[in-house]
Amino acid sequence: MSDTRANRLQSLWDEARAAGMSEPERLLYRSNLLGSDKRITNFGGGNTSAKVEESDPLTGESVTVLWVKGSGGDIGTMKLDGFATLYQDKLERLRALYRGPAHEDEIVDLYNHCTFRLNPRATSIDTPLHAFLPYRHVDHMHPDAVIAIAATARSRELTQAVYGDEIGWLPWRRPGFQLGLDLSDFAARNPQAKGVVLESHGLFTWGDTAQECYETSLRIINTAIGWFETQLAGKPAFGGEKRPARPAQERSSLAAELMPAIRAQIGAHEHKVGHFDDSAAVLEFVGSERLEELAALGTSCPDHFLRTKIRPLVLSPDGDMTASLPAAIEAYRADYAAYYERCRHADSPAMRDPNPVIYLVPGVGLIAFAKDKATARIASEFYVNAINVMRGASGVDTYRGLPEQEAFDIEYWLLEEAKLQRMPKPKSLAGRIAFITGGAGGIGRASAERLAGEGACVVLADIDAQAVEAATAELAARFGADQVRGLTCDVTSEEAVADAFRATAQAYGGLDILVSNAGIASAARVEDTTLAVWNRNIDILATGYFLVSREAFRLFRRQALGGAVVFIASKNGLAASPGASAYCTAKAAEIHLARCLALEGADAGIRVNTVNPDAVLRGSKIWSGEWREQRAASSRIGEDELEEHYRMRSLLKRSVYPEDIAEAVYFLVSDYAAKSTGNIINVDAGNQISFTR
Ligand SMILES: NC(=O)c1ccc[n+]([C@@H]2O[C@H](COP(=O)([O-])OP(=O)(O)OC[C@H]3O[C@@H](n4cnc5c(N)ncnc54)[C@H](O)[C@@H]3O)[C@@H](O)[C@H]2O)c1
Ligand SMILES: [Zn+2]
Repeated sequence: MSDTRANRLQSLWDEARAAGMSEPERLLYRSNLLGSDKRITNFGGGNTSAKVEESDPLTGESVTVLWVKGSGGDIGTMKLDGFATLYQDKLERLRALYRGPAHEDEIVDLYNHCTFRLNPRATSIDTPLHAFLPYRHVDHMHPDAVIAIAATARSRELTQAVYGDEIGWLPWRRPGFQLGLDLSDFAARNPQAKGVVLESHGLFTWGDTAQECYETSLRIINTAIGWFETQLAGKPAFGGEKRPARPAQERSSLAAELMPAIRAQIGAHEHKVGHFDDSAAVLEFVGSERLEELAALGTSCPDHFLRTKIRPLVLSPDGDMTASLPAAIEAYRADYAAYYERCRHADSPAMRDPNPVIYLVPGVGLIAFAKDKATARIASEFYVNAINVMRGASGVDTYRGLPEQEAFDIEYWLLEEAKLQRMPKPKSLAGRIAFITGGAGGIGRASAERLAGEGACVVLADIDAQAVEAATAELAARFGADQVRGLTCDVTSEEAVADAFRATAQAYGGLDILVSNAGIASAARVEDTTLAVWNRNIDILATGYFLVSREAFRLFRRQALGGAVVFIASKNGLAASPGASAYCTAKAAEIHLARCLALEGADAGIRVNTVNPDAVLRGSKIWSGEWREQRAASSRIGEDELEEHYRMRSLLKRSVYPEDIAEAVYFLVSDYAAKSTGNIINVDAGNQISFTR
């Protein structure tokens, strides 16, 4: 950690912007500012509130309404509808109904009865932490620098040493009604205090105005950042380096090798997606002397471990890492089951997935696996938060994780379980990873869209760098940046194809779906077909399909989770067409290759099927070039008559669009086609010459 002022948080409050805002809008503005910096709070962590005078819709009287972040959501990105609104006086009356800490959870249902203006946003269990503080504005943040103080054995003394009487300290207690009352008592006894550190957890700060509260939060966090800079100056973190980081290239290829091997061990019940992080902060921790000891203590802040599980799996870097994986993961699962058995209560929910979420690899980095990419990325970010906490805490004192039973009671809290039960059902391709060649073209892009819409992570691979960049940006805007990657790849290059699959394994952890679609078309009578044209068709359409399939098969076999391949061939692969022998022959080779691969892959649950489009003009680059002219000429019609010409030629008299091809692709890669392999689906509006037999 360097000791420059650059590490300090700067106030981003712009009074010119805030001046015209209503009180709830100022609360939202403050929340978004706070949430924009991960040093202030982690994703989805913490909450903010304001007590606002409003007019009661029934009586017209002025009432105080608590605006407080509702359940779920993230203060950095939330909108006004993310706040719950509750009558302050009704909340106060709950004090009389409260029967003590053992009955805390029963109060939660009553929050709904305090709702102001029928606001449907579910209230958070943190609501009383805001309601009972006698201040208009309250922030509850999870700043790494403050949690680092809160997670030491001497957190009370250290809080006092850093902040004096300005910030108080409360012993760890699971957030809920009782903690709200404790905070209220504290504030009554300490009118000078500007906030409280909650042991093992985070920070509460308050103020009379939104701006004052914001500035106080920043100042208190900056004090902790500055204090650690002084305390840690010149000290090696985590007891110094034990295993140096490997060179970047090597880290990346090791991750690409390890991730599918991990996926093989943990994917039996649910396909998971991976995330790799080898940032400096991670490498320092995983390469350190105290890695094993600190990692075993588990993370402290509940927000951290709910995402990362109480502790990570540390992989031994010695010997063959891939070979030692199964035993290491099996041991982790056994440990987790033992923890569940030790801590469970009579009414605890059933044990959840016992597989590790975070894998620490000395010299290489951190790997996270979760149900989708965003969840895996966020889990890895949370573990980086935990590393920051451990760096500070272990540098000044003894670092403390949360006691095991406390951790369990949060992880398996019935209210937490209820939240999980409320989550929507996963989409049909959630956790799946798809590689689509020619992904920037008409059919490739439509297929990517279809699969991404079903929850798959999609990798668009295309030779056209500009087009792939544009297509990736568009899909990322629709489905979120986590779910989409684009890369430039020439499918005729053995090396480029291997690199692209390595990059996919590193980006997402493996592969479930290959859509081999990259293509061109050419037309010439055989006597006019140059060897170059012939070879180009064979190279891209036949050899290119072979090369990507080979890499996909290698990955599929390493994961042992099956796989689905779809070839986009052509009607012309089944039906000969005059004046395009190179193209037709190469497409026929694709179809036969698909059948061979269906045979070979069956024992590993790898399915290989073919979709044959015909005359998909819209969105196709093939159909915007020379091919278009030649086809029009050979049918003796104008280019703008082509679409109608093909429609009339089809049995069903319908035009075929990229989305129609994408629909067949989706069917074949989905579980709906779990029992189909070696098949062909024509999507051509009907054409007798391509009927299969
Ligand atoms: N559009 C149709 O009418 C039709 C009919 C039958 C078959 N097909 C087949 O469908 C597939 C997709 O065609 P489309 O209509 O979407 O065309 P398209 O030109 O819009 O898309 C093809 C994509 O493949 C890419 N590509 C070309 N050579 C490549 C290489 N060497 N490496 C990587 N990428 C490369 C192109 O840049 C382009 O983005 C092709 O295989 C084509 O033969 C299309
Ligand atoms: Zn919290």
